[in-house]
Amino acid sequence: MSTVEQPVEVDGDKLMQFVFRAVDEVGATLNAALVVMGDKLGLYRALAAGGPQSPVELAARTATAERYVREWLNAQAAGGFVAYDPDSGHYSLPPEQAVALTDPDSPAYLPGFFQIALGSVIDSPTITERARSGDGYGWHEHVHDVHEGCERFFRPGYNANLVSQWLPALDGVTEKLHRGATVADVGCGHGSSTILMAQAFPNSRFVGSDYHDGSIETARRRAREAGVADRVSFQTASAGAYSGSGYDLVTMFDCLHDMGDPTGAARHVRSTLKPDGTWMIVEPNAGDRTEDNFNPVGRAYYGFSTLLCTPASLSQEVGLALGAQAGEARIRDVVTAGGFGRFRRAAETPFNLVFEARP
Ligand SMILES: C[S@@+](CC[C@H](N)C(=O)[O-])C[C@H]1O[C@@H](n2cnc3c(N)ncnc32)[C@H](O)[C@@H]1O
Repeated sequence: MSTVEQPVEVDGDKLMQFVFRAVDEVGATLNAALVVMGDKLGLYRALAAGGPQSPVELAARTATAERYVREWLNAQAAGGFVAYDPDSGHYSLPPEQAVALTDPDSPAYLPGFFQIALGSVIDSPTITERARSGDGYGWHEHVHDVHEGCERFFRPGYNANLVSQWLPALDGVTEKLHRGATVADVGCGHGSSTILMAQAFPNSRFVGSDYHDGSIETARRRAREAGVADRVSFQTASAGAYSGSGYDLVTMFDCLHDMGDPTGAARHVRSTLKPDGTWMIVEPNAGDRTEDNFNPVGRAYYGFSTLLCTPASLSQEVGLALGAQAGEARIRDVVTAGGFGRFRRAAETPFNLVFEARP
């Protein structure tokens, strides 16, 4: 017996509401490139420093072409990133936007977020192909904007929270760090977390590691520039094989879920820690139920997870692919399977969960 399809009734108003919401999304998609453009050309910084100005003035101040600058300013003003005064024809950056778009030390700093998003989008044709084949795409294969954007996105949050909130939330760890401890910062990328800890605890020694040698090269340079190279060393190594033992503290910042074999990594952490050592795991904030993460932060992280984190894990052995929204229960499972007896949530921010694992 054949089935007769019933005509589906479409509500024209709802359809147009969705279309106009999508128009906003297209504007937002393009804005990722425009924010990175404004950041790279120094347009936001010049607007913040120079006060209200015309496109001609902004172009002169930044040694850029006025016609491009005028169009960029109008796109920014239409999206509410820049203010426009029709009487004077001047554009300006409200103080809050000036902080978010130009102050790399503010926890609200945004350009890195856009830069990693744009880098992910640039790589999306390859990811689309990998979604057919099921193959992964390694972190090291991405364009530079992903690596640098990652550093610039995460660093402000670490700068605001790591030394003042997260480490003190762990049992007895800051005391050890003040006295002089040995620390392994695994999956350290460009080393921003390693360097922030080394600056705060000059009596301690830090070993940063990451499987991506390009990131490790940058991390070494950053440590020299920050004047902490005497107490920080870096090695190219996967999380299941970094060297050293007897660590007081092992840290992983926003990387456990990117690994192919996080349980293997957990076992290695366990074997390199002192019996009374601590493993600090910083992961993206996420609820355990999928639907808990249907919010703006979860949306951005599921996007990154599709384009970066899941392919990264699938590119490695085991390919567990936890995803960037794994949630506490799945992280606990991995940590427990790796041989840790104690696990608790120690701190959180809107973007991150901080876990403490002890043998
Ligand atoms: C999202 S980035 C975070 C980098 C850095 N921890 C930070 O917070 O800026 C994830 C990092 O994990 C690293 N990574 C992925 N799989 C790894 C593995 N199996 N062993 C070591 N590092 C790994 C990547 O190279 C990348 O630097």
